[in-house]
Amino acid sequence: MRYLLVIILALSASAFAQTDEQRAAIADRIKSFSNVCVAGQDCGGAAAAAAAVVTLPGEAKYAVCAACHGTDGGGGIGPMLAGREADYIVGRLTAYRANETVGAQSALMWGQAAALTDDDIQDLAEYVTSF
Ligand code: HEC
Repeated sequence: MRYLLVIILALSASAFAQTDEQRAAIADRIKSFSNVCVAGQDCGGAAAAAAAVVTLPGEAKYAVCAACHGTDGGGGIGPMLAGREADYIVGRLTAYRANETVGAQSALMWGQAAALTDDDIQDLAEYVTSF
């Protein structure tokens, strides 16, 4: 009985012991499901860059706008932005940044646009036209 236990332990231990080759084979098998990085593997460099999703710079800047204009620009507290031309968005944001009154609720946009740079406005306009 005691021997049986030893054998079972020895077998299960060997089942968990993996060589680098085995680890690499496992990583290779599951890499199509997600971006997996196994200990001991080179996880940076070209592979990581290839896996990175291409995003527009305006996407992160739009996060704060989404609260009022919707994640897809569908509108909410603020008007719908989806379907607008980039020039239109740039014009409006530039006006709000200068504290100009566009509509009845422009005051809500003044604070939003105050700290935007020209590049931010361009990036945001590009992102909004991608909806
Ligand atoms: C607190 C809510 C709120 C947030 C946050 C907000 N907006 Fe607005 N936005 C509004 C409202 C309300 C208006 C309408 C203002 C008016 O009456 O002129 C507006 C108007 C606009 C317009 C003009 C729309 C049109 O139809 O003419 C643009 C463009 C715009 N916002 C872009 C943005 C961007 C880009 C951000 C993020 C940097 C942002 N907004 C953040 C509420 C918000």
